[in-house]
Amino acid sequence: MKKLKSVIQDGDYILIVYDEKRRWIVQVKTGQAFHTNKGIIEFDKLIGKPYGIQLPSSKHKNFLIFPPTPADFLFKTVRKTQIIYPKDASFILVNTGIGPGSRVVEAGTGSGGLCSILAYYIRPNGKVYTYEIRAEFLKKAQKTLQRLGLEEFVEFKNKDILEGIEEKNVDSVILDLAIPWDIVPLARDALKPGGILASFSPTIDQIQKTTTALKKNNFGDIQVFELLLRSWQISSKNKAIQATRPHTQMIGHTGFMIFARKIEINK
Ligand SMILES: C[S@@+](CC[C@H](N)C(=O)[O-])C[C@H]1O[C@@H](n2cnc3c(N)ncnc32)[C@H](O)[C@@H]1O
Repeated sequence: MKKLKSVIQDGDYILIVYDEKRRWIVQVKTGQAFHTNKGIIEFDKLIGKPYGIQLPSSKHKNFLIFPPTPADFLFKTVRKTQIIYPKDASFILVNTGIGPGSRVVEAGTGSGGLCSILAYYIRPNGKVYTYEIRAEFLKKAQKTLQRLGLEEFVEFKNKDILEGIEEKNVDSVILDLAIPWDIVPLARDALKPGGILASFSPTIDQIQKTTTALKKNNFGDIQVFELLLRSWQISSKNKAIQATRPHTQMIGHTGFMIFARKIEINK
């Protein structure tokens, strides 16, 4: 998952779009093809062509070919645990200021969803230090990051974060696990002055406990958010009736996000 490219090359991961629901990420390989029930796409016909092209399959169905974005990859991540949704991941990025060069501690790694987003944005000279207690999850997440070409920007740690954060002076600590409040004092030690802690939790009880721990450990500017995202359908099957309107169903709840900044005391 490098910067968006303009020409399709052998080895690229590409996004193939048939419609809103039927979309795949596949790796282009010389001499090979991608099979769907809407026909076959031969990779040799794609190599050297510009991204954004429309390509007919062997069954004369049109497919669109694009470079995948981080959100596309997030939806295709192999899930061993619940992953962060793009709406929440992007809000974490803008509220922490994570960007090129940032040093970020994350726990737990889970399926590597949030980890891949963090790694994408801290490039080329930042680092994500990700802690995961379960070796099998960490291994799977590492494979995902490898597939995305982002592994070199991450240090994978098969450790219980409650045993301590080894990194110091980091820009941010990002938590997505069951008991974030117990990690708050450790996060304080790891953060640089004014550094930002972000924690994602599905229940408000968790947020309340985390808030109490943040206040006790001299964090300030504490803010809590929940984001609701409503997507729209932009056409109808019946062309005579235009039906551009919100989809009937939406994801009602993912989680709450809490942000807080480390306060310097007695300075
Ligand atoms: C909800 S998942 C994280 C999902 C991840 N943010 C993603 O987008 O893929 C929570 C993970 O935290 C891990 N975990 C729980 N307690 C931990 C601890 N004390 N130290 C490290 N990892 C922990 C769990 O094993 C689990 O994989």
